[in-house]
Amino acid sequence: MEHATVVVSGTKIAQEISSNRSEVWRLIQQLRGLGVDVAGQPATGYQLRSVPDLLLPEILRSLLRGTIFDEHIHHFYKIGSTNTAAMGAAAEGAPEGSVFLAEEQTAGRGRGANSWQSQRSTGIYCSVILRPALPPSEILALSLAAGLAVRAAIDQVDARVTADLKWPNDVLIGGKKVCGILTEMNAEATRVRYIVVGIGLNVNQPTFPKELGATSLRLVTGSEWSRVELVGALLKSLDREYRQLVDDPDARESILLRFAESSTWVQGKKVRIDENGSAFEGTTEGLDSRGFLRVQTPHGMQTVLSGTVRER
Ligand code: BTN
Repeated sequence: MEHATVVVSGTKIAQEISSNRSEVWRLIQQLRGLGVDVAGQPATGYQLRSVPDLLLPEILRSLLRGTIFDEHIHHFYKIGSTNTAAMGAAAEGAPEGSVFLAEEQTAGRGRGANSWQSQRSTGIYCSVILRPALPPSEILALSLAAGLAVRAAIDQVDARVTADLKWPNDVLIGGKKVCGILTEMNAEATRVRYIVVGIGLNVNQPTFPKELGATSLRLVTGSEWSRVELVGALLKSLDREYRQLVDDPDARESILLRFAESSTWVQGKKVRIDENGSAFEGTTEGLDSRGFLRVQTPHGMQTVLSGTVRER
């Protein structure tokens, strides 16, 4: 990876991995079997032409070195739901920082009773396990921070793309949804046992059914994105947000401020809120100190705890 377009001799590679040329040849054959495009042979040396954009732990581990996500990375070609897998693993004691990535989900879950479309190797379907020493009331801030992390990752990979955040957890571009976040937890009244943050990011999907109101980064920019690069940027950014929230008593305030700055929905937006089977309309009036959305209605100020927000 460090000498991607250069021809490197088998002897040099063998020295670097403290092995011999025939072992290098065997490993090159193995990489080719995984879809890595390596030109050359023992006599001429090897040239790395391209790596497949698979979210393989072997590739991600080095990108994530120094974060809480660099050790326990699980990759699935096909799975029901990475959130379900992560919640199950967390219940069995899987450590904080465990990452579950899938190329394809057959039962991807969204907020409420929604499902999440998860076609093979086009999007990022990622869930992480966290075990913060925080009360459940702080978890909304963590969930909002995950949206900030997604926004920062997109900006880092292509600064021309600016995403909007819709409370609590949607990431939009041009008014269409590009990412959804499902945060689930197991908690006592005063203590969180574990949290799973599940992120579904539309990356290289070529189309979406119109009624979904969704888009992908490829549809927005007209070119393919590297999912490996994006997951790397995303988990690094999430690591920073999470450490701050856990370590710094002022972090919640900073998250709420940055969320409000990054969202056209938090202030002065005319909205309709669907919550627990009923609906009301009003104009957004910022976030309260815990991160809930305030909406001014004809009948007074309402605080949205879990509803769906739509523009009216
Ligand atoms: C939403 O906007 O409704 C949230 C969607 C969350 C989807 C992600 S994809 C990875 C993880 N696994 C799931 O089953 N859901 C989340």
